[in-house]
Amino acid sequence: MRFARLLVIGLPLSAGFSVRPLVSKRPPYHPAPLSMSEQQQDAPKTYPPPNAVPDGMKTYEAMHKQSLEEPDTFWGDAARSTLKWFRDFDRVSQGGFDTGDVAWFTGGQLNACYNCIDQHLPQRAKQVAILHEGDEPGVVTKITYEDLLGQVCRMANAMKELGVKKGDFVTLYMPMVPEAAVAMLACARLGAPHSVVFAGFSAEALRDRIVDANSKWVFTTDEGRRGGKTLHLKSIVDKAVEDADCVEKVLVITATGAKVPMGKRDVQMSEMLPRMRPYCPCETMDSEDLLFILYTSGSTGRPKGVAHTTAGYLLYTGMTTKHAFGLEEGDVFACVADVGWITGHSYIVYGPLVNGATSLMFESTPMYPNHGRYWDVVQRHKVTQFYTAPTAIRALMSCGPEIISDYDLSSLRVLGSVGEPINPEAWRWYNEHVGKGKCHIVDTFWQTETGGHVMLPLANVTPTKPGSCSFPFFGIEPAVLNAQTGEEVTGNDVEGVLAFKRPWPSLARTVYGDHKRYMDVYLNPYKGYYFTGDGCHRDSDGFYWITGRVDDVLNVSGHRIGTAEVESALVLHPAVSEAAVVGFPDPIKGQAICCYVTFVSGYTESPELLKELVKQVATHIGPFARPGMIVGTPGLPKTRSGKIMRRILRKIAEGEADKLGDTSTLADPSIVEGLVEKANALL
Ligand code: WTA
Repeated sequence: MRFARLLVIGLPLSAGFSVRPLVSKRPPYHPAPLSMSEQQQDAPKTYPPPNAVPDGMKTYEAMHKQSLEEPDTFWGDAARSTLKWFRDFDRVSQGGFDTGDVAWFTGGQLNACYNCIDQHLPQRAKQVAILHEGDEPGVVTKITYEDLLGQVCRMANAMKELGVKKGDFVTLYMPMVPEAAVAMLACARLGAPHSVVFAGFSAEALRDRIVDANSKWVFTTDEGRRGGKTLHLKSIVDKAVEDADCVEKVLVITATGAKVPMGKRDVQMSEMLPRMRPYCPCETMDSEDLLFILYTSGSTGRPKGVAHTTAGYLLYTGMTTKHAFGLEEGDVFACVADVGWITGHSYIVYGPLVNGATSLMFESTPMYPNHGRYWDVVQRHKVTQFYTAPTAIRALMSCGPEIISDYDLSSLRVLGSVGEPINPEAWRWYNEHVGKGKCHIVDTFWQTETGGHVMLPLANVTPTKPGSCSFPFFGIEPAVLNAQTGEEVTGNDVEGVLAFKRPWPSLARTVYGDHKRYMDVYLNPYKGYYFTGDGCHRDSDGFYWITGRVDDVLNVSGHRIGTAEVESALVLHPAVSEAAVVGFPDPIKGQAICCYVTFVSGYTESPELLKELVKQVATHIGPFARPGMIVGTPGLPKTRSGKIMRRILRKIAEGEADKLGDTSTLADPSIVEGLVEKANALL
């Protein structure tokens, strides 16, 4: 109980936040890298793929080999058979990791929206493209491919009337309503890169992203609904655009119908859309024209606008959707992520639609109105593929499996997992209780920057081990590197950091407006490789296991948060002199945020002040980044050269102060002693 007490030194439990007490006993989930022996203990078993495709692994291996040995043939054929081109490309791939001048399918011309909608109309006009399940159970909207074209075109024509042109950046701050996908596709139709900002971000975070992209247009809704609660999106946008002079128009879509104040820049889309023509021609885009940017957190500095281009992204997300999930005609594909994150971009919108699938969009939460909601959705819509995050599985696990038997889940064939390492326990629960041992569990490892899955099992093909993301997708050549030397570690049963040896079509091309940062973060750390920032283990059978971030990026409920962002938010408070942020294990969220702060003289630590600091982070970033714990300290443990020793802070937060390791480089050991002593005194 030692560090449950430490929490009392910091943020008292009585302060009224949903803080999880630190316990000295390790929670059942290990977000920290599992040692090899732990992994082997946890996952002694290899599961054969259900309904295995005959010789599936042999075919996969042959295709993977071809994708590396004859990449231009492999990808050239794939691009011609998967996408519709207005003009064929001249070259399949060019450029590389030296300067990050990667380009695919140059000379080719196409339009992403055309590929997601128009190309399907001859065969699928009446097929449902987007199946929307609202926040309230059973409030369903079905949009056929034909209807989707009309809606997207009206939206695109309205945007044109409001001045949007090819190359303009459009920001979206939207709840999970169908219009979010419609607006993204309308942007793609006009060749206006979208920048979707997750609707859980605060007004300040939204403003920073609008300004960084220099967006003149912002889409939002009057309000949103999630889990029975109201999201006041329009009023957050009002605040965000107050000092975002670049914004000319705020396009307000009606979602709940609430009366919201409308200002000079605001446009009521419900008045405009019915006047619009339901056809709008597509802009002709070059393969390498930007399709979108999406801000994500890194280990340093401000969030970066990861930039994806048109052809490579679309091809790769289309192919991974098809192979990871074994898409078949008539499937109802449900990725229950949010369009505000990359998972929503790639596996709600672009990947499923380019395949002509029916994509389910889910507006609610797994817990609303009760913890059977996912299964209710699966039953009512006869979902065939279901894709969620380990954090949701763990939350449902903690409620017990009983409720699941109230629902008929026999339509399910593939169950996907994404966002963080899935602990073997959650994997087995998902497999046994949801999949009834008959579904293929596909643990897909990828990142905002990779555009689509890079390491994954292929449905009905790849054998699985609980907790392993198995093998690389076509065109992906993984390497395990020694983090210190950068040397490639060959053979099996090895550990290191995960990198990729060659570009693939959906690799992000740059950080918007800052190619140097792109180079420094991804391509310069290990010359000749793309560096993921994740640790990994390749086991004796060659299966890959992701062991978590090796940089200062936290993964809280599958949300990526940079410790630097939280630190900057904290030091903006007048009472805070210095802050250091680390993660600590949380049985449901995977990781929670622990902040160590020192105070400016004149301020003393009090429950009220700590409460204010929690609020400070929620206001600057968003409620999803709310710290789980704040610890006041007279100083931060630093090396003699002034570097904060985060390793030590991490250990203390993890309740392992007895395992601090080498502390000989500490400039002032009394600081750590003080922290530990404070804790011990409370025992
Ligand atoms: C983590 C989300 C283990 C990883 C698609 C990565 C995973 C970061 C997995 C990217 C997985 C994602 N197994 N770890 N299956 N999927 N991650 O950009 O640390 O929000 O670097 O993309 O999530 O998060 P991002």
